[in-house]
Amino acid sequence: MIKVGFVGTGLIARSHARQLGVVDGAAIVACFDIDLERANSFAAEFGGSRVDSASAVIEQSDAVYVCTWTSEHPDLVAQVVAADKAIFCEKPLATTLGEAQAMTDAVSAAGVTNQVGLVLRHSPAFRWLQKQSQDDRYGSPMSLVFRDDQYIPIQGMYGSTWRSDPKRAGAGTLIEHSVHDLDLITWMLGPIETVSCHMANHHKIAGIEDQATVTLKARNGAHAVLVSVWHDVLSRPSQRRVELFKMGAVFGLEGDWNGPVTAELAPKESPVLLSGGELAEMAQSHDGLSTNPDAEFIAAVAEQRQAYPSFAIALEAHRIVHAAYQSAATDGAPILLG
Ligand SMILES: NC(=O)c1ccc[n+]([C@@H]2O[C@H](COP(=O)([O-])OP(=O)(O)OC[C@H]3O[C@@H](n4cnc5c(N)ncnc54)[C@H](O)[C@@H]3O)[C@@H](O)[C@H]2O)c1
Repeated sequence: MIKVGFVGTGLIARSHARQLGVVDGAAIVACFDIDLERANSFAAEFGGSRVDSASAVIEQSDAVYVCTWTSEHPDLVAQVVAADKAIFCEKPLATTLGEAQAMTDAVSAAGVTNQVGLVLRHSPAFRWLQKQSQDDRYGSPMSLVFRDDQYIPIQGMYGSTWRSDPKRAGAGTLIEHSVHDLDLITWMLGPIETVSCHMANHHKIAGIEDQATVTLKARNGAHAVLVSVWHDVLSRPSQRRVELFKMGAVFGLEGDWNGPVTAELAPKESPVLLSGGELAEMAQSHDGLSTNPDAEFIAAVAEQRQAYPSFAIALEAHRIVHAAYQSAATDGAPILLG
């Protein structure tokens, strides 16, 4: 039985705890949050004891989830690594590239099992699209159009306001939310060579951009555009829409977990549409991964092997995020990533 602890017991910690509830071989033993009431209610719902410090969680656990707001991640990860325990850290790893690099170096030097909350790498819809991006039958990727929008996450289902504080969140929609998207884009197109970005701040929250448009050129010549928006339309949940163009095919994704996804193949085959269970089965048959990132993490801890996606994978997304902010600061000047 893997003993699991949580530091930070808010929105995403609850989501992981629910997913762990269906995993054999794992039990939540301890949790801590600076908001004691929140930690008490987490322990009452998901089990284990509410303890008085992060170090007490780490001491009692084999594997620790770091689910605090972002600025706390580096110090907490360092404590988990020092105790030689497995770590699941939420994305973004940190508010700066330098810290993300240091965290990645530390987990790698210690050899601890590490996973990052880039959970869309387990989504059937994105796994299907990534497979199409790599399939040579239709040619190589030409263009990728990626739109991501959600209501600004300091209202609605988000029972917290830290995302309006650049000290805790780093900045706005690009690092806090679209680090997922930049990770998915480099997963589909390969290494990114050039990044250019423009940002805007319509809500006028200092240091928190609510609109970012990023143009990317991959080393293989493919181009991508990401539009990331935080608006006030509470009726719209977080949504992603992606179109991938190749010479011989156009693929579409609407709905970032269960689809639907579509494929239109040259010269004029009828479009294919997949969603739900059928899509999940197809994704699983090609890579063998579960749709439960927490089940995958626990299996990696039990087998004392590396987990997926790792800190090293997240670091690549952080490099692109960093370049996008550098570019936006110089009115969209292209930044070479090499
Ligand atoms: N993977 C995803 O799709 C996803 C989704 C949502 C959030 N996140 C990430 O998860 C993290 C948490 O987001 P959330 O939405 O759960 O926020 P939240 O506000 O709901 O929960 C964060 C909790 O951390 C606690 N906390 C802060 N500093 C602490 C410390 N030093 N020690 C103990 N507890 C501390 C807060 O009191 C709060 O209860 C962020 O980094 C966010 O970017 C990832």
